[in-house]
Amino acid sequence: MISEKLEKELNEQINAELFSSYLYLSMAAYSGSINMDGAAKWFQKQAQEELEHAMKFYHYLEERGGRVLLTAIKEPKKEWKTLEEAFKEAYEHEKYITGRINKLMDLAVAEKDYAAQSFLNWFVDEQVEEEASTLAIYEKLKMVRDYKGGLFMVDRELSQRG
Ligand SMILES: [Fe+2]
Ligand SMILES: [Fe+2]
Repeated sequence: MISEKLEKELNEQINAELFSSYLYLSMAAYSGSINMDGAAKWFQKQAQEELEHAMKFYHYLEERGGRVLLTAIKEPKKEWKTLEEAFKEAYEHEKYITGRINKLMDLAVAEKDYAAQSFLNWFVDEQVEEEASTLAIYEKLKMVRDYKGGLFMVDRELSQRG
């Protein structure tokens, strides 16, 4: 059985992952609105992945005898100045999520909940990837900046995400 405190924090993490999904879906819609279809596809995939993260927490909480309690999801931002700005914020958001995962891990360690630590390890590794991928795209967009040909190439590359 999971502690009440960890149960509460895991429920909040479900909300955070659902918000991540909502934010990336909003970034996908923005990307589509400026004809960056590759980026739109990339963000849609990212939104889907975040839903899967939420479900991992959902199932884990149930498995440990906890109760899933869903709460309101905050409205995401809808407009960005450039695709570069959107990816910069995606990177910032991933760093924020990493901080949350680290806090969950701190709690699992403090409570000597080894099962939760093992479960959270997957997310620790996942966040390394999430930060790296969003940062790499942001850096590329920063490099090409206003050069339309470069922007077109980055967008095509983003469309390749499997
Ligand atoms: Fe996530
Ligand atoms: Fe993420």
